[in-house]
Amino acid sequence: MSDRPQLVVALDVDDRESARRLAAELQGGADMLKVGLELYLSAGRGVVEDLIAAGWRVFLDLKFHDIPATVAGAVRAARSLGAEMMTLHAAGGAKMLEAAVAARAGESLPRLVGVTVLTSLERADLQRMGQAGEPQEIVGRMARVVKESGCEGVVASAHETAFIKQECGSELLVVTPGIRPAGASVDDQARVATVESAVGAGSDFLVVGRPILRAPDPGLAAAQIRAQIEKAYDAR
Ligand code: C5P
Repeated sequence: MSDRPQLVVALDVDDRESARRLAAELQGGADMLKVGLELYLSAGRGVVEDLIAAGWRVFLDLKFHDIPATVAGAVRAARSLGAEMMTLHAAGGAKMLEAAVAARAGESLPRLVGVTVLTSLERADLQRMGQAGEPQEIVGRMARVVKESGCEGVVASAHETAFIKQECGSELLVVTPGIRPAGASVDDQARVATVESAVGAGSDFLVVGRPILRAPDPGLAAAQIRAQIEKAYDAR
């Protein structure tokens, strides 16, 4: 893997055949495909097996958040799938994160990434749930716990990437969803950023869903975004 940030396309569709078709269109455009709750619950393990058989690197984004024993069991069950990366909520706490790391039984894969503050939340949403302060500080605290628990990375918005790298070191991977071209619809996201600002901030993986899935030609849209990533990376 080069140091260039990787483009992860979120396959947010609801059946195995659409996923297979979309994956074929994304050949040569995306670096990795993300299987999230909608697709996994619609199509199950088979969809991950299809993608891996077709040569794809898979990011399994099921965002585990439960007691340590349950999450450890889920990680053990997921290991046999062959995903390169998977998510769990940092809010599950250090014991849950450590149990997930231990459930890999010394293997380095799947890489475990802790979701910090969802990119759909903003300051007022957090305050309402009793988490006062700037999102960046909350994310920074969560990122430290994720790192100390032995996970490889975090999910956070591009607004927090530079702070995370500064606080936790550059080796902690930062996965950034909420990527939108300037002026595009933000949908249900709140802490959004452009490709250029995410790459400039140092994000390692850029997750893009709707801006690619809704494009008339998703393969072309992905290739264009990857070209933007390369250009922004060379210009740093
Ligand atoms: O369509 P859009 O580009 O907003 O897709 C973003 C993807 O990233 C979705 O699949 C969503 O589940 C995921 N994601 C996110 N925020 C997080 C973690 C994952 O938006 N904190």
